[in-house]
Amino acid sequence: MSQTIHVFDAYGTLFDVHSAVARLRPEIGPEADRLSLLWRGKVLEYTWVTSLTGKQASFRKLLRQSLDFAIAATAPVGAEVRDKLLAAYDTLDSFPEVKEALQALRRQRSRIAILSNGDGDMLDMAVRSAGLEELFDAVLSAAEVGVFKPSGRVYRLALTKFGATREEVTFVSANRWDVAGAKLFGFRSVWVNRSGAPDEYPEAAPDTVVADLRSLPALAV
Ligand code: LAC
Repeated sequence: MSQTIHVFDAYGTLFDVHSAVARLRPEIGPEADRLSLLWRGKVLEYTWVTSLTGKQASFRKLLRQSLDFAIAATAPVGAEVRDKLLAAYDTLDSFPEVKEALQALRRQRSRIAILSNGDGDMLDMAVRSAGLEELFDAVLSAAEVGVFKPSGRVYRLALTKFGATREEVTFVSANRWDVAGAKLFGFRSVWVNRSGAPDEYPEAAPDTVVADLRSLPALAV
């Protein structure tokens, strides 16, 4: 019996990574947006360098290191603001349409999971903080396999968890590199192009591009 599974990236797709800095904008000042963008870019870079050099590190450690770099490069905020920024990552805002879209997918009998580079405890806190804990059949962390996306070993976690075939999985991410990884792994892939960015990774084109999660339920039928 075939099953439908929607597997979601977490940061940038379900949770707004820039909501951490947004909460502390007054304390950070005019460089807040540049700090947030550099922080996001650097944590991703650190995950790739860690995995490609065969090393292992927790996402939380790389998040801390990337924040310290971004602070040093943009806005010399003190230890108190730095610690508040890190703590805010455990309670990031979810995007406004997320809960309703996931509820609609569940009503269509889709299984729903998170597959993220975040540490398990970070993801569990973010899911609970956003009031989404009832909506997921699984929350899967790359930490389970000791390598970060876009390694195929991470996407394979979804197959193992659900006893699924690649064809039964629709992978949803706002991170175009993550969509490329999932597509090359063999999943049906949806790019959530929230910012209207130009496309890239032509060798791994998404099956569908959406502006946010509201159109997913219609696609799933
Ligand atoms: C995640 C980040 C990388 O895996 O978007 O959730």
